[in-house]
Amino acid sequence: MIILIVGSGYVGLVTGACFAEKGHQVICLDIDQEKIKLLNAGNVPFYEPGLEELVHKNMEQKRLTFTSNYEEALAKASLCFIAVATPSLSDGSCDLTYYWSALSQIGQLMHQEMVIVNKSTLPMGTSKQAKNHLQLILNKRKKKTPFHLVSNPEFLREGSAIQDSMYPDRIVLGVEHAHPEKILKGLYLPFIKDGSQMLIMDPASAELSKYAANAMLATRVSFMNEMAALCEANGGNIHHVKTSMSKDPRIGKFYLDAGIGFGGSCLPKDIRALKAMIAQSLDRPSLLLEAVDQINIQQRHDFKEKVLSYFAKKGGIAQKTIAIWGLSFKPNTDDLREAPSLYLIEQLLNQKAFLRLYDPVALPKVKALLPSQDDICFCQDPYDAAQGADAILLLTEWAEFREVNLDKIRQLMHDFAFFDGRNLFRNDPMAEIGFNYFGIGINSQDHELSEMSEASHS
Ligand code: UDX
Repeated sequence: MIILIVGSGYVGLVTGACFAEKGHQVICLDIDQEKIKLLNAGNVPFYEPGLEELVHKNMEQKRLTFTSNYEEALAKASLCFIAVATPSLSDGSCDLTYYWSALSQIGQLMHQEMVIVNKSTLPMGTSKQAKNHLQLILNKRKKKTPFHLVSNPEFLREGSAIQDSMYPDRIVLGVEHAHPEKILKGLYLPFIKDGSQMLIMDPASAELSKYAANAMLATRVSFMNEMAALCEANGGNIHHVKTSMSKDPRIGKFYLDAGIGFGGSCLPKDIRALKAMIAQSLDRPSLLLEAVDQINIQQRHDFKEKVLSYFAKKGGIAQKTIAIWGLSFKPNTDDLREAPSLYLIEQLLNQKAFLRLYDPVALPKVKALLPSQDDICFCQDPYDAAQGADAILLLTEWAEFREVNLDKIRQLMHDFAFFDGRNLFRNDPMAEIGFNYFGIGINSQDHELSEMSEASHS
């Protein structure tokens, strides 16, 4: 069986490489010819640990090929995954332009029985509409070619995409017929430990499963960020609150880390799309998701205000040098979509600060986004970024930041503020080194201690 994957972004490329790794013949298609050129030359156009090696290996073994040609690909494949982007429209609802275009191409050019699998994140009811859409195209072509549509949302995370795809915690199949169910169960069997991970349901439930999971994760993060704000206002410590909550097995320990807020290509987009779905289907706004979204936006704003109010006592932030550690929306990726760093960079430049930026992998993408200007310096490592800085803003919890010599960092700085947007460090050891440390959700008494410690070091 030859598998066609339409869309060679994070989801499509990772899925294709993992199927190839299990021995299947896989064709990855993308309408972006530059991307296909890069992939054919063995270059993965984004950073994802382990992906380039997996792609090379399967290209060498002739199981993985790349093309922009639908006709050629559909002549060979009988199983086709659609993994194109479904970004947000300006009202927050899901933009299905790429999806309908891919489906139409398939309908126009398919000529053998097909199982078509929706991997893209799609609003509830899309599979049903897609079935009618495809049938209309085939009717116009006067073709009686049989096809099946399956909803199979993807749950992989950037930064651990290969691991998540090779060892998924669940496979969701929204399927209406035994034939496609059998094909997909056979395909996924080598990826799972036991049958309970294979979840068979109707397509609409499968579609909602993806949105519901991401919305729940986002809700947990925003909830903790609200608790963190309470800690800051009333003298508490979010680390203690989290530890206490996570001992309750009904709550668990994941997605309870307060910070500068969630970003990336999924959580912000999916809660907005779900909000739009709720408004459209139920004719009322989603009060819960509105709050989740607003708290997330507020979080980066509050962080900026914290930095500005620190410098307000020191003559303002204009002309001060601010180091930013971490630019990608999370570690182990160079993805900048909805990254809090982009907001902070814009706001601090507006305030006339000088910025020294460092990220282990995302710098080239940041350089491509920002015009070259005198008030930004792109740095080689965390030490370089800290040179002469009045403050460090840690925005992404890259593992390498844990390894830096913080004494040395402090010596390189001009002033000693450290705003930890990911709570990577703890107040007391940072204060001992001589930093004026500000975490997220750390009580005001701790701040006073760190200010005292600064005085004793200077
Ligand atoms: C998410 C889902 O986890 C994945 O299942 C889905 O397929 C795609 O969307 P991803 O966007 O790669 O994956 O990132 P994830 O690791 O979930 O993190 C999302 C954001 O939440 C990041 O900005 C992260 O920093 C933030 N986050 C996460 C927190 O602020 N606190 C936490 O406790 C966890």
